[in-house]
Amino acid sequence: MSSIPWEHNNLFDTPCLSIEDINNIIRLAQYFFNNNKTKIKTYSFLNHKNIMLFFAENSTRTRISFEIAAQRLGATTHLMQQAGSSMQKGETLKDTMLTLMAMRPDAFVIRSQYSGVMEYLSQFSTVPILNAGDGWHAHPTQALLDVFTLYRAWGNRYSGRIVTIIGDVKHSRVARSNIHLLQKLGVRVRICSPATLSFIPKTFDGIEIYTDVKDAVKRADAIITLRLQLERQENGLIPKEYYSVYGVTKELLKYANPDVLVLHPGPVNPNVDISAELITDAQHSRIVEQVEAGAAVRMALLYLFCSEERIMLE
Ligand code: CP
Repeated sequence: MSSIPWEHNNLFDTPCLSIEDINNIIRLAQYFFNNNKTKIKTYSFLNHKNIMLFFAENSTRTRISFEIAAQRLGATTHLMQQAGSSMQKGETLKDTMLTLMAMRPDAFVIRSQYSGVMEYLSQFSTVPILNAGDGWHAHPTQALLDVFTLYRAWGNRYSGRIVTIIGDVKHSRVARSNIHLLQKLGVRVRICSPATLSFIPKTFDGIEIYTDVKDAVKRADAIITLRLQLERQENGLIPKEYYSVYGVTKELLKYANPDVLVLHPGPVNPNVDISAELITDAQHSRIVEQVEAGAAVRMALLYLFCSEERIMLE
């Protein structure tokens, strides 16, 4: 039995996490995942804590699962969305943050359209900030839940596995956070997208880049399909043409490992990023399980950042 060490003040992205941190988050997520299947899902670890959910961009999965996670741990949540707030009257991001901080929350969960904004906002906060997705930059909790989903299928056997990320890599905060995490765990990461959407910053080394989707999935153990982010593109691709070349279909899976897993962060564009039939395919798709994993991973993170108690795990 051991207690879980945790030294981080904020979670802006995945590079700051050590392998030990990742394994601890996974162990704790597994503990909450199992308990989330029972009737009594609640704990008192975060009793009397206030978690501020500041969502300046739309969200279904991340927002609701953070809300559920905080409440299952005993915290009270406060949702501030840009629509309907005084930001609509022109209140700045800084003043909004100072205003919310003055109400003395115990942690912030923030989603923003501005890439890299978490570091800026942390100047105005004395409590942890968990990044719930910032522009094109990072989505660390999504990457952690993706890795936890793979762990549930593979256990700790990541090393040498091939994960192919297909889609709009250029605009994808999910791809960036995932690449850091997967490479740290020894996974071979391939990306495949139209040349106009394959941009990866120079700071990433060792990624295998493909434009031919059949080559990209050859012997892949998992495929992470990304949403074509039409809202972030200056010159939108035509979804139908995109699907005919890059859409992930059952036919395409024939080139991959027979046990290949298919993940997608959601929301899905059916028959654009991935075929509608594959979304719920029991053999390959883990898309619904990813959402379930998200609640458990966010419980683990809120627990690590906010709880004054420490669970003893095997
Ligand atoms: N994957 C993800 O971030 O989904 P939402 O935008 O619905 O939160």
